[in-house]
Amino acid sequence: MLNIIDKAEKRVLVITGLLLALFVFSILYAKGKYKTDLPECLPYDKAYTEPKLVKLDEHTYQVFAVAQMWSFQPSEIYIPVGSEVDFFLTSKDVVHGFNITEKNINMMAIYGNINKTTVRFDKPGVYDIICHEYCGLGHQNMKAQVIVNFPRPK
Ligand code: CUA
Repeated sequence: MLNIIDKAEKRVLVITGLLLALFVFSILYAKGKYKTDLPECLPYDKAYTEPKLVKLDEHTYQVFAVAQMWSFQPSEIYIPVGSEVDFFLTSKDVVHGFNITEKNINMMAIYGNINKTTVRFDKPGVYDIICHEYCGLGHQNMKAQVIVNFPRPK
């Protein structure tokens, strides 16, 4: 039955298969080379909808980040240099973005979902978190900051 496939069609099938393999290889290669980690998706729990910063020890923190029109809570996260931070992210309304610009972190905040990623902050500075999914009129004002090694103002 296979011989009814035209030679040209066979060629297209083979080329398509090779291209597909090349795409998959490229994704895996980039994942290894740039050490990109896919965010985890956790089962929904109401406990994650309460914004807070939790200190587990001197250099280990958890941030329960909540996005809503049009802000992130907590909006200022003070941590010491060398900290490892687990971000648990959810939304109270529409889909928002969660982009830590200098850390190559790109997550979505989705109502009824918890996304998690872990970030290390080895250099002092102020890291902007911005919403990079259009979410309505105040979208452009939606941001927060991770402040590494600067004291909280009194
Ligand atoms: Cu939230 Cu754009």
